[in-house]
Amino acid sequence: MIDALSAATLKQLSTRHHLYPFTDYKELAAAGGPRIITHAEGVWLTDSDGQKILDGMAGLWCVNVGYGRKELAEAAYRQLLDLSFYHGFFKTTTEPAALLSAKLAELCPPGLDRVFFANSGSEANDTIVRMVRHYWNLRGKPSKKTFISRQHGYHGTTMASTSLGGMSAMHGQGDLPLPGFVHVMAPYGFEAGRDMDAESFGRLAARAVEEKILELGPENVAAFIGEPIQGAGGVIIPPESYWPEINRICKQHDVLLIADEVICGFGRLGHWFGSQRYGIEPDFMTLAKGITSGYLPLSAVMVGDRVAETLIEEGGEFYHGFTYSGHPVPCAVALANIAVMEQEGLVARVRDDIGPYLRARLDEALADHPIVGEIRSEGLIGAIEIVKDKRTGERFPGKGKVGLMARDHCFRNNVIMRGIRDSLVFAPALTLSHAEADEMARLARLALDLTAKDLGIL
Ligand SMILES: Cc1ncc(COP(=O)(O)O)c(C=O)c1O
Repeated sequence: MIDALSAATLKQLSTRHHLYPFTDYKELAAAGGPRIITHAEGVWLTDSDGQKILDGMAGLWCVNVGYGRKELAEAAYRQLLDLSFYHGFFKTTTEPAALLSAKLAELCPPGLDRVFFANSGSEANDTIVRMVRHYWNLRGKPSKKTFISRQHGYHGTTMASTSLGGMSAMHGQGDLPLPGFVHVMAPYGFEAGRDMDAESFGRLAARAVEEKILELGPENVAAFIGEPIQGAGGVIIPPESYWPEINRICKQHDVLLIADEVICGFGRLGHWFGSQRYGIEPDFMTLAKGITSGYLPLSAVMVGDRVAETLIEEGGEFYHGFTYSGHPVPCAVALANIAVMEQEGLVARVRDDIGPYLRARLDEALADHPIVGEIRSEGLIGAIEIVKDKRTGERFPGKGKVGLMARDHCFRNNVIMRGIRDSLVFAPALTLSHAEADEMARLARLALDLTAKDLGIL
């Protein structure tokens, strides 16, 4: 714990000097500055007041093996002493980068055998944009340039990855999307598919991609990108019919398929990758976050055979890369992280044990709640929709307001869940115990009771 005086100083210093990501600076300063997190173990954070907080979001959907794992810290320490840095630019590599590239190829679906390393999900998606355009040029189809993605999609914050994303508020800053990026509807059944059965709605949402391809002309469409489950857009879980139809559409119109697995990868859905859960047949996969459980920055682009072979055979030198592409320290941590996941059987645990267990506890605690319209989850990711009318799904006035109210009640009661529009979302570490799942469900109920009271309902 840090003493009250130094906590106050840290708040002052950061309010004065630190521009945080995704923050309204004026509002935060007026509220007294940020909460300072000092320590973490398992799924529990500690703040500078000594409060223990249950982290229902695994940081930013990334701390898959939980905080404070010695195996990962020791892997970093050993690698820092052996070889703190060397790059891959000039016909060199390092042992961790070589071993990790082979390990990722082993874990990924067949046909995704090559990897390009970067530092963040955003950089990995930017890398894919360059590779895709380079690929179509090499294939003699230079008009195939446009990327199709979805509303509420999130693919990062660089110019290209913000353009891929379907967040209109983000587009409003920086005159985005760039030309050549278009968006179609998300398979968001709770909002848009209430009047039809889930599978028909899944096919309808997939056909929106096909209609866009036909409108633009397949000769102009480079790729479609989607998260297997849309995370930051509000944990939008597609009906089972959605991805098989997307596979068909991309194949039929010769459009490359990119699965952005930054959140869904590394066990969150009870499979190593979301593509395995939904039978997606991607040409690229974007990996980040859970690859190191967030202990160090690392991302990876998995490249499918048809693109890799063209790039290798016909591409000459690929003029792309980051100083830290394949940095040996995060690669060593990623190997240790994957070893922990394998030794502890965490992927199967999510599918067969803790995923269904948490869901059952949330259903018990919340299904009858007057402002809960839907609880949906897959593995260890999910959302609780907050509504005014349980039967019709009618929302409260002022879109997003009740989501933030509920999120703030979570925060004040020491559980972290995220408010996205009018929902609370969760994605805890894959090591969450049954007792911790019970506590998460109890605290979610408390936060929603307090929200309902504020709204004059309970
Ligand atoms: C699906 C998805 N893609 C890409 C990104 C961007 O990753 P980063 O923040 O590491 O750039 C995120 C981040 O949340 C994400 O959820």
